Amino acid sequence: MGPADRRAKSKMSGNMVGMNQQLPVCVIGAGVSGLTSIKQLRDRGIDVVCFETGSDVGGIWRYDNDSGRSPAYASLHIDTSKERFAYADHPVPRKWPTYLHHTQVLEYLESYADRFAIRDAIRFRHDVMSVVPDDGGWRVKVCDLDTDEVASQMYRAVVVASGHHWDPNIPKQSGSFSGEIMHARSYRTPDRFIGKHVVVVGLGNTGADIACELSWHAASVTISTRSGAHILPRYILGRPLDRISTRASSRLPLVVQRLAYQALLRIARGSQESYGVPTPDAPILSQHPTVSQDLLGLVKDGQIVVKGDVSRFTDTEVVFANGDSVSADVIIYATGYTITFPFFDESVFSARDNRVDLYKMVVPVDTEGLYFIGLIQPVGAMPPLVEQQARWVAQLLDGAPLPSSGEMRAEVVVDRYTRQKQYLERPRHTIQVDYWPYLDQMRALCDANDAQRSGE
Ligand SMILES: Cc1cc2nc3c(=O)[nH]c(=O)nc-3n(C[C@H](O)[C@H](O)[C@H](O)COP(=O)(O)OP(=O)(O)OC[C@H]3O[C@@H](n4cnc5c(N)ncnc54)[C@H](O)[C@@H]3O)c2cc1C
Ligand SMILES: NC(=O)c1ccc[n+]([C@@H]2O[C@H](COP(=O)([O-])OP(=O)(O)OC[C@H]3O[C@@H](n4cnc5c(N)ncnc54)[C@H](OP(=O)(O)O)[C@@H]3O)[C@@H](O)[C@H]2O)c1
Repeated sequence: MGPADRRAKSKMSGNMVGMNQQLPVCVIGAGVSGLTSIKQLRDRGIDVVCFETGSDVGGIWRYDNDSGRSPAYASLHIDTSKERFAYADHPVPRKWPTYLHHTQVLEYLESYADRFAIRDAIRFRHDVMSVVPDDGGWRVKVCDLDTDEVASQMYRAVVVASGHHWDPNIPKQSGSFSGEIMHARSYRTPDRFIGKHVVVVGLGNTGADIACELSWHAASVTISTRSGAHILPRYILGRPLDRISTRASSRLPLVVQRLAYQALLRIARGSQESYGVPTPDAPILSQHPTVSQDLLGLVKDGQIVVKGDVSRFTDTEVVFANGDSVSADVIIYATGYTITFPFFDESVFSARDNRVDLYKMVVPVDTEGLYFIGLIQPVGAMPPLVEQQARWVAQLLDGAPLPSSGEMRAEVVVDRYTRQKQYLERPRHTIQVDYWPYLDQMRALCDANDAQRSGE
């Protein structure tokens, strides 16, 4: 049954829809997105049941999470400042450093869960296996991982907050390699790479962090990058990078923002080439930013070598597109993640090639009662954005209106076009949003709904 049929059917079964209003809302996942979803829904008096595969809250920020889905490594610090990272209603302690260690992020999320008494809504060690539309509601099948018991229940709506940084993207490469091949998701500490020749494929934030750390331990570290990256420092002129960009500067035309960043970087750190890292063909702000305080200096000091795309492997070497080659014991793919929802049949929802068509990055047009929180990759921090997404979903479930399908579909098309115009066309840029414009848009939408309601 297609989405349009489902909508028609749900309209026909009016009694069932009425009955469904009495059912709770199901939230999948208790990370940054799921926690705020529970809070926002409960703030509106909506009954919530959350399922979480792991035994506690925090998602990716719980190191070695027994969900098996966290890619956090021991040295991981956030690359967004604590001020930008905090939810609006729960500040990060003032004494904490600007860039939190992952243990502090977890402590912060735990304190959020405690402060708003969120945990009792969560069934830990419960893995959602399938989510199926059924008679105007949603049937959710869940496995209790401690007893292996499988149970299925009806919900009025489903809020998917299951994260998109857990299913490794591993490119196919020609040639065979006799050393170790791994994805960065399994990287934790540098000790087992001591004395090894390592090639890190990918120059996103994971590739940069891991290469910098290994450069102090491995025999050699080579980064392979097919697109290159503009490397941004964590601090510019003593200020955290994401506090250089303001609400006002984000309203300037993109071309002006690009010129301003280029000028600032020239002054603050000189050109990338002067460190031996080629400047990419694509202009700044056309890729998800790679933020590293150390990378350029380590390349300049000869501790890291940067090469282009991998062409093939031999038994013991990696050969690059320009014909250069390096010896390797280990290849670490820091090539990002595929957006996957194993609990949906493709006819209900899928993200083929990482593409999703969601109104405001939250609502699948023509599918009632299904919402996505955190299916965005912001230039900037995530929690304040997902907090507004969740606030909006709670309003929708409390009666706030959506535009017509046609209007939503038209906006989805415009959004996709705008994103494609700014960002390099890559699977990692399909859900990109910019911090201030997106935050302001979602907040304005929510404020307007609240104002309308209080005026009624
Ligand atoms: C290495 C790394 C560093 C990052 N650094 C920053 C940063 O500095 N600043 C920033 O703002 N963002 C950063 N991010 C983005 C980060 O993903 C978000 O900050 C945030 O953690 C996303 O939260 P989430 O709840 O959407 O997803 P997750 O943290 O992935 O949580 C999803 C939860 O859903 C659960 N789940 C999934 N499937 C199921 C299922 N079938 N049944 C039950 N439960 C399920 C998982 O177990 C998990 O607990 C980083 C991401 C990575 C990978
Ligand atoms: N310290 C931190 O806060 C921190 C640390 C790590 C990660 N993160 C966040 O976590 C998220 C994931 O980051 P990530 O670095 O793991 O992934 P990512 O941002 O998706 O970057 C993946 C990298 O791999 C490359 N790549 C992808 N497919 C490839 C292929 N087939 N062949 C060659 N290269 C390929 C990409 O290049 P192309 O551009 O050419 O596709 C890119 O350089 C991001 O939001 C990031 O900001 C934050």
